Amino acid sequence: MASTVKNVRSTFELSGRNYIVTGGAQGIGFTISRAICEMGGNVAIWDIQDKPVDDKEFNTWATEFGSKTLFVQTDVTKKESLEAAFKKTLDVFKTVDGCVPSAGIAIDKPFIDQTWDEFNRIQEINVRGTFFAVQMVARHLIEQKKPGSILLIASQSAHIALPGYRMAAYNTSKGGVMMLAKVLGVELAPHGIRVNTISPGFVDSDQTRNIREAKPSKREGEQMWLAPPNQRLSKQSDLTGAAIYFLSDASIHTTSADIAITGGLHAGTIDGLISYEK
Ligand SMILES: NC(=O)c1ccc[n+]([C@@H]2O[C@H](COP(=O)([O-])OP(=O)(O)OC[C@H]3O[C@@H](n4cnc5c(N)ncnc54)[C@H](O)[C@@H]3O)[C@@H](O)[C@H]2O)c1
Repeated sequence: MASTVKNVRSTFELSGRNYIVTGGAQGIGFTISRAICEMGGNVAIWDIQDKPVDDKEFNTWATEFGSKTLFVQTDVTKKESLEAAFKKTLDVFKTVDGCVPSAGIAIDKPFIDQTWDEFNRIQEINVRGTFFAVQMVARHLIEQKKPGSILLIASQSAHIALPGYRMAAYNTSKGGVMMLAKVLGVELAPHGIRVNTISPGFVDSDQTRNIREAKPSKREGEQMWLAPPNQRLSKQSDLTGAAIYFLSDASIHTTSADIAITGGLHAGTIDGLISYEK
């Protein structure tokens, strides 16, 4: 058989492609948004906040990377808000090629104390907000007869109980997100739409900082970098390689897949066994 060699570098390019990132005003969504622009793409950030937390950095992407950028204040728990954001995005971009729903919240609290309201809030942002943002993008891609790539943000919490943390409602939501990607990868494959997840470990962000700082003991909070076999707290930028891989044609034959970026914690922990300070 003749060889089918092909250069790999260009397959990671996102030039001219448009993506929606929910929850991108800060944190992981913001960092992935920047990476999309760096790789030539355009990005519409939808977030409940009224502007990116680092507005100055956001405003450099157009000149630094030649990207089109858009920020739309959006509440992913509200149907009308999601629909208005999508309309605004299409007004500017005309088409979209994929999305990264990153809006999410977490609560660290014993299972027996978690309330109906806390459970509902987590599911409506993490699961329902993701589900319907993806549905809008998938409908659009199917109508346009365009291929696309959708990247969901699951978590190590979709794989394991976290050492030192009690997050049953959050684990439930991220298990749901991971399964959603798996099933949509199959259902949407005939339309050329791929759906994958990354499962981040403990990543430095407001989410983890708030949870860590609310701990009764410093030692419990420190599990975030003591427990993973790599013994470090993940940076947001640790996720961008996998995110670009999944969004781009580099992963053209990859769907319903997950990459765990946990410093090894999804596989277990030996040195990180927790001891509680009395
Ligand atoms: N930080 C971690 O260790 C970690 C690990 C695994 C997965 N994740 C997931 O990654 C995603 C991003 O988390 P992060 O750490 O960057 O957190 P973050 O708190 O820094 O960012 C979350 C963003 O979501 C936005 N948001 C919240 N509610 C919203 C709503 N109703 N509508 C629109 N936007 C809303 C917030 O304004 C914020 O900008 C979340 O889904 C989170 O569960 C985080």
